[in-house]
Amino acid sequence: MAKKIFYILLVLFAILQLFQPDRNLSSENLKTELANHYAIPDSVEVLLNTTCYDCHSNNTDYPWFVNVQPIGWYVQSKINKGKAKLNFSEFANFDKKEAADKLNDIENVMNKNSMPINAYSWYNKDAALTIEQREMIAKWAANLSKQILKDSTAVLNPNSSLYKATN
Ligand code: HEC
Repeated sequence: MAKKIFYILLVLFAILQLFQPDRNLSSENLKTELANHYAIPDSVEVLLNTTCYDCHSNNTDYPWFVNVQPIGWYVQSKINKGKAKLNFSEFANFDKKEAADKLNDIENVMNKNSMPINAYSWYNKDAALTIEQREMIAKWAANLSKQILKDSTAVLNPNSSLYKATN
């Protein structure tokens, strides 16, 4: 009996593997990328890239175990949710007010230590931000938020088309 149940579970598990979620992958370097649109310090860009972009951009660097279902579905659902709320690849699509609000949210999650989500730091050791790194991101986000509301052209990336149009 136990053997039979084991084989049934094994078959069900094998069937699950046929349903792989759609992946969040793109090699496009969009004009709307946060760093292509706004001038942002390399030190901050590196941190966002290594700790946030997997769930908040158009391109995820997947760990091997997403090939195993239902783990992959769980991971993909977090990516989809995170990206729907904040997508750094399409950050320039936010109007000034939205961009400022999202930056305030970033300041908040850094201060509360609620991002990246816990499960992510278990397998991505680079994602464990130090207090100093959190403060650096929080400060940067708060400043950029204020500057965008005051005069957003002052904080544009000099290579962005909007910057060229206004200078
Ligand atoms: C493993 C995936 C993952 C990583 C990595 C991650 N996030 Fe998130 N993030 C999410 C999810 C999922 C949500 C939505 C949470 C919810 O709705 O409960 C979210 C929500 C947010 C929000 C709230 C947005 C809103 O409009 O409400 C902010 C801000 C945020 N994340 C910032 C960050 C920052 C900054 C980093 C990097 C330091 C980061 N996240 C890393 C998954 C992630």
